[in-house]
Amino acid sequence: MKIDFANLQYQYQLYKNEIDSAIHAVLNKSNYILGEECDLLERELETFTEAKHAIVCSSGTDALLLAMMALDIQPGDEVITTPFTFIATAETIALMKATPVFVDIQADTYNIDPSKIEAAITPKTKAIIPVSLYGQPADMDEIKALADKHELKVIIDGAQSFGATYQGKSDSALGDISCTSFFPAKPLGCYGDGGAVFTSDDGLAEKMRMLRVHGQGQRYHHKYIGIGGRLDTLQAAVLLAKIKHYKKEIQLRQRVAQSYNHKLSNSVELTLPEIKTDRTSVWAQYTLRTPYRNALQEKLQKVGIPTAVHYPKPLHLQECFEYLNYKEGDFQIAETAAQEVISLPMNPFLMESEADFIAGNLSGAK
Ligand SMILES: Cc1ncc(COP(=O)(O)O)c(C=O)c1O
Repeated sequence: MKIDFANLQYQYQLYKNEIDSAIHAVLNKSNYILGEECDLLERELETFTEAKHAIVCSSGTDALLLAMMALDIQPGDEVITTPFTFIATAETIALMKATPVFVDIQADTYNIDPSKIEAAITPKTKAIIPVSLYGQPADMDEIKALADKHELKVIIDGAQSFGATYQGKSDSALGDISCTSFFPAKPLGCYGDGGAVFTSDDGLAEKMRMLRVHGQGQRYHHKYIGIGGRLDTLQAAVLLAKIKHYKKEIQLRQRVAQSYNHKLSNSVELTLPEIKTDRTSVWAQYTLRTPYRNALQEKLQKVGIPTAVHYPKPLHLQECFEYLNYKEGDFQIAETAAQEVISLPMNPFLMESEADFIAGNLSGAK
């Protein structure tokens, strides 16, 4: 059996007619940059998330940059985030010449532990960036309460969680600004790079629209120093075709996760993912943990089951952040997670027989 991790080809074949005709419509109009499909997509995203403003942009990384630029993060400011995330979360803080300040994660959800945030707040702290890791929102009530108390901004890195909910609300509609990514392998992916920012603040929305196009309000009149952060119209067309199926795909992802949970529930060597009862995950990844991770990964690879490790090295131990002077042992929960986590094939179209095959090979991980 040959199992595909994200199965993007199957998905394309399934929606081929709609996607091809959406792409051809753009080719026939040749409106390649921020064409009307981008506007249409923004309105669809607003309806989907109930966020007041959705602004599409060139990637999830640029979405984070736009958010921090809009909130006026300055050199020397401190921004609190998790060390157990993709590099972009903290890389963009550093690109702003601000200082990433890491706080350890919870062992069960892998998200930032709000009970450890307050100790990291200093007079220089300007914002907190929780990441909705693997598709599950962080503890937003606790994080927002701390942000209110200390007058900090909250930027949600929802690159992995578009469509996830927290107490019934989309995590794109929480936080001062929420960011997402449409990287192809994300739960809602386009066919290249893409992203979006969301906010309920009219002023921030207007500013991010300008920042996205070199800070210009009017052509060749630049109010801010911005970036070239536009989304291609072709990517918007792909997303418009795919978003119509996305609610159904989220349900299918949730069904695959339940099926894994059920099939693996008796395994003593594996710790299965935990989703808190007041939120939903869109299962960007189905990630479990085992002390025998490396042996398990090798064993699965031999029988054709692809796996991935998100992430093998926490950010405070990355070479690029040596200047921050963190050391091994500073964030032990993140460090242990980095040694133990393994993500299984996850996509809406994973078949029951594939899940059976994977689960069968997971027993006896040692
Ligand atoms: C948590 C997180 N933040 C940010 C990003 C960056 O998104 P992009 O790859 O679209 O720039 C990603 C995507 O890999 C991510 O997983």
